[in-house]
Amino acid sequence: MARVIAFVNQKGGVGKTTNTVNLAAIAGHTLGSTAEDQSQVLVVSTDPQASTIWWADRVHEDQLPFDYHQCDDKPEDLARLKLLDQYEYVFVDSPGNIEDEKILMATLDSTDEVVVPLPPAAMAYAPTKRTIEKVLEPRGVPYRVLISDWDPRDGRVDLEQTQAYVDNNEWPRLNSVIRHYKIHERAAAEGQVCTQYPKGRIGLEAREDFFRLAVELGIGGRPLPRQARKRPATKAKAKGKA
Ligand SMILES: Nc1ncnc2c1ncn2[C@@H]1O[C@H](COP(=O)(O)OP(=O)(O)OP(=O)(O)O)[C@@H](O)[C@H]1O
Ligand SMILES: [Mg+2]
Repeated sequence: MARVIAFVNQKGGVGKTTNTVNLAAIAGHTLGSTAEDQSQVLVVSTDPQASTIWWADRVHEDQLPFDYHQCDDKPEDLARLKLLDQYEYVFVDSPGNIEDEKILMATLDSTDEVVVPLPPAAMAYAPTKRTIEKVLEPRGVPYRVLISDWDPRDGRVDLEQTQAYVDNNEWPRLNSVIRHYKIHERAAAEGQVCTQYPKGRIGLEAREDFFRLAVELGIGGRPLPRQARKRPATKAKAKGKA
């Protein structure tokens, strides 16, 4: 069964697409392909604007570590996401303006966890609160808030205020913070995902945030199959050899 993680926030422009694509890139890059050369990560866009698809289409197919699929009018397809056995992870990007409730509800019903991106900007607070309290909590969907698009050059005040806002509301919050980097903003037009960023300081720092997020979400490689594990030498054997 695939693990499904959806990025949801009714506020537009909070980083749902940026975070979905880059986290999926880290997951796909880390897990690699199966023996049949099949990617283990799928990205599904439920946004009729299909920015994710536009972005992924621009990346050279040898460099894109995930498969992708547009699904904005077939709630019955979303209900089957967990059953996609060929994938370890499915990441779902959702629209800001939720016009089709059926699609959102189908996404929430099939998701294991929702990540709610929230930039450190007071304008985003009220729509985020609505998303959590009117949509996610009544549905009983596990969720965590991810502070995203924070520009360290602006100082820590906005970040700390936003962390306090989340904590005062008693919403679960991810420790990882996705920082603002111009390279993320340019990536879609350049046809790049974060695993392709140049190895300079900025590229590595920008990518590091998504590695950290992946670790916090418990996204990683599969355990070695049993027969491939080396047995540690027993004391008796080790003595005999000496
Ligand atoms: N960490 C970041 N660093 C720099 N720019 C960012 C970052 N996150 C998002 N952006 C920029 O902010 C804008 C909005 O981001 P994005 O499209 O990911 O948001 P969204 O929530 O998917 O929007 P929508 O609701 O319209 O689908 C984009 O121009 C994107 O490049
Ligand atoms: Mg988007």
